[in-house]
Amino acid sequence: MSTALTEADIAAVNSVLKSGMLRAAGRCAELETRWAQMTGAKHAMTCANGTCALQLAYEPLFKPGDEVLVPAWSYIATVSMVVARGGTPVFCDALPDTYQVDPADLARKVTPRTTAIAVTHLYGCPVDIDAVQAVADKHNLMVIYDAAQSHLATYKGQGLGHFGDVVTYSLYATKNLATGEGGIVTCNDDGLAREIQLLRSHGETDKYLHERVGYNYRMNDMAGAIGCSRLDRLEAQTQRRREVAAEFDRIIAGIPGLSTPVTTPNAVPVYHLYVAQIDPARFSCSRDEFCAALKAEGVPTAVHYPRSLPLQPALSAWNNSDTPVALGLASRVFALPIHHDITGEHIRIVGEALTRVADAYRV
Ligand SMILES: Cc1ncc(COP(=O)(O)O)c(C=O)c1O
Repeated sequence: MSTALTEADIAAVNSVLKSGMLRAAGRCAELETRWAQMTGAKHAMTCANGTCALQLAYEPLFKPGDEVLVPAWSYIATVSMVVARGGTPVFCDALPDTYQVDPADLARKVTPRTTAIAVTHLYGCPVDIDAVQAVADKHNLMVIYDAAQSHLATYKGQGLGHFGDVVTYSLYATKNLATGEGGIVTCNDDGLAREIQLLRSHGETDKYLHERVGYNYRMNDMAGAIGCSRLDRLEAQTQRRREVAAEFDRIIAGIPGLSTPVTTPNAVPVYHLYVAQIDPARFSCSRDEFCAALKAEGVPTAVHYPRSLPLQPALSAWNNSDTPVALGLASRVFALPIHHDITGEHIRIVGEALTRVADAYRV
C-alpha cells in the first residue's frame, strides 16, 4: 500500500510521543528546513493542512473585494479560499492537453480590479510559469501557486519554490508526501514569511502579546516526524512514479481514442495523479461506462474532477466567465492507479484491460 508507514516512520512518531513534546517543535522545524532546501525556497512554514496554507498565503497578498484569477479546473480549495478571503474569483480556462491553466485566458481576464493570480500546479505538473509570470509582470499582480499535488516537481530545472510570491502544499494522507493532515507554505520574502508565521499563530510576538489578528494553523510534531521520516524516501518514490507514468504513456499512445497527459514545456512532473482522456466520439460509451468496464476488469480508476469549479453549487455566484475546455474535461478525464509501489505486473494488467475495454467500445 502506498500509504503504509514504515517501521522508521513509526519509530519517528514514537520518539515524539515519548518526548511528550506534541506541539510544533523540532521535527516541524526540521521539515521546514529540508522542504525549503528541496523546493528551492528561502522560507518554508509548516501548517495544519493545505487549505490553511492557502489562507495563510492569500491573506497578506490580496484584500477583500479584489479580483483574483483562478483556474476553472482544479480542486475547490484553490478557489474557495479566495472566496473565504473575500476576494472575487474570476475563472480561467484550462489547456486541453496539459489540463493546466491557459495563460492566454489569464491575460484575457485581467481587469483594473485584478490584483492576484492563484493557480494550481495540477496533478503533479507545473503550469507554464513563464507565461503566468509574464501576465503578472505586465499588470503588477501577485502570484500564488497551489502545489498541493506537485511536491518536488521542477520547472526549467529549478524547484517550484523559486517561482511566484508564495507556494502552498498539502500533506494530506493521499499526497506524495503525506503526514495525515498537514500543509506547508513557502516564500522568498523575509517580511512576508514573518507575516505568515504571525498569522499562523494568533499574531503572537511574545507570550500573550498579539500584534495582529491571526489563527491557530500550526502543524504538530507527530506530523512533522512522519513528514521528515517519509521525506527520506520521496525522491526515489517520485522517480518510480515517473517510470510508471512513462509505461502508461507508452500503453495509451497505442490505443486510438485515448490520450496521455501532456507535460508543460520545461516542466518535470511528479505524477501525483496520472490523468488520461477518452475521446467520446471514438467510443460507443461514456467515460463513466468506460471506467465501469475497467473496474470489471480489475482496474480501479478515479475522476478528478467530475465537474469544473464554475459548476460547483458552492461557487455558482462566481460562475462569471466562459471556460469550455474545463467543462469538457469533466466528462473525458480518468485517473489510472499510480504510486511508487505499482509493479510491472500491475502495469501489464492495466494495459491489457485498457486495450480490451477500448476494443469493446470502439466505434
Ligand atoms: C490542488 C489542491 N489544493 C488544495 C488542497 C487542500 O489541501 P488539504 O486537503 O490539505 O486542506 C488539495 C488537497 O486536497 C488539493 O489537491
